[in-house]
This record gives sequence, C-alpha cells and structure tokens, in this order.
Amino acid sequence: MLLQATNVTKSFGSGDARVDVLRGADVTLDRGETLALTGESGSGKSTLLHLVGGLDTPDTGEILINGTDNGQLDDAGRAALRRGVVGVVFQQFNLIPSLRVADNIAFQARLAGNEDAAWQAALANRMGLTEQLGKYPEQLSGGQQQRVAIARTLAPRPKLVLADEPTGNLDEDTAQSVMDLMLDLVSETGAGLLIVTHSARLASAMSRRLHLTAGRVAE
Ligand SMILES: Nc1ncnc2c1ncn2[C@@H]1O[C@H](COP(=O)(O)OP(=O)(O)O)[C@@H](O)[C@H]1O
Ligand SMILES: [Mg+2]
Repeated sequence: MLLQATNVTKSFGSGDARVDVLRGADVTLDRGETLALTGESGSGKSTLLHLVGGLDTPDTGEILINGTDNGQLDDAGRAALRRGVVGVVFQQFNLIPSLRVADNIAFQARLAGNEDAAWQAALANRMGLTEQLGKYPEQLSGGQQQRVAIARTLAPRPKLVLADEPTGNLDEDTAQSVMDLMLDLVSETGAGLLIVTHSARLASAMSRRLHLTAGRVAE
C-alpha cells in the first residue's frame, strides 16, 4: 500500500480556542489509484494533506507511506520525503518568482538529486510551456503558472502526488484541460494521486472519492 493513514488526529490551539480538526481520519491509497477528497470549507482537507505530505505532524495516529511512518521521521527524513517520494501541488502555485520557468520546473528534482532533463523537457512540452521556459512566473497567466507548478511537482517522479484544490483559481475550461493533462501524466508515472477538490466533475474523474466530515473520512 502506497499510503495508509490510520486513526489520525490533529488539533490546533488550546483551551477555549482549541479546534479538533481531525478526529480519527483513515485514508488508504494504492499505486496507480486516483482519489478525490471532498468536504466543506474548514473541514480539515488541507490539514490532512499537509500531514500526509510531511509538512506537519499528526497528534496521534499513523501515516505510512510505502510502509514508513511519517510521524517517526526526523526533520531530515521528512524533508527527504517531501523532496523525492511525495509531491504537493498547492492551490496558490507557490512558484519561485526570481527563477525562470525552466528552473522552477527543475527545482524539486534538483533538491531531490534526480534531475532528468529529457523528462523535464517532455513535461514542459506536454504542458504547453516550451515557449515560456525563459520567462518569469509573473509573465505567465494563471493557467500557465499552474501548469508550471504541476510540472515542477512531477519532475522528480514522486510516488504519491498530493494536490490541494489545484484548479481552484482557474476558469472551468482551463481547469479541465490542466487536470486532464495532470491525470495523464500521473497515470504514466504510475503514481498515486490524492486530490482535494470542490469540483464534482473533477471528483467524478477519480477512481475513488472520500468525504471528510466531523474530523473523519467516509466513503
Ligand atoms: N496552522 C493552523 N493553526 C490553527 N488553526 C488551523 C491551522 N491550520 C488549520 N487550522 C484550522 O483547522 C480547520 C481546518 O482547516 P483546513 O484544513 O484548512 O480546512 P479545509 O482545507 O478543509 O478548508 C480550520 O478551522 C482552520 O482554521
Ligand atoms: Mg483547504
């Protein structure tokens, strides 16, 4: 099993301000599977994604990725996980403004130490970014920036791709074509995909759907 999250809990704040966001959430995902995670705003979708991606640690519970427990990793181990095993596509793109498109695409792969120029060129080509490689992010449209963000995430060939409302800032047609491309590329690499989305159309394109409510995950 690629991802096996069991009985995950996470709270923020303390005393009167304490919010129990996750109260025993379970998620499993196999290689080659695509999974949509839906839930109301504030239900904890991003929190769960961050825990799976090693960007934060659960209070209790277990998050196994390829059999290794995220929670048992030290900072260096979590950093290695983020660089090579798990790739995250953020809603706000998070491109590096001072780097050209080509270097943004290469960034994660360089950190992971597994840069593959031919694969990066193929990603740029498939994402329609070949003409944009010498430009800076601010010179691109929103749809182009999101395609750069997806190419950057896929460049190190992560085994598990996490995407947090990746098309939330795009119009419906652009969102659809960007997602179709992302699904094709993810399926070509054999990775697992966990996507947080508000779009019923996008959710229906995944092989499984889960819903987060009251801190737990249901079918
Ligand atoms: N770092 C944090 N510190 C304090 N509260 C947080 C933090 N991250 C998330 N929360 C709270 O946890 C709840 C779930 O947030 P989030 O996971 O972003 O929900 P969703 O992505 O489903 O909209 C919200 O009430 C939010 O305010
Ligand atoms: Mg969110």
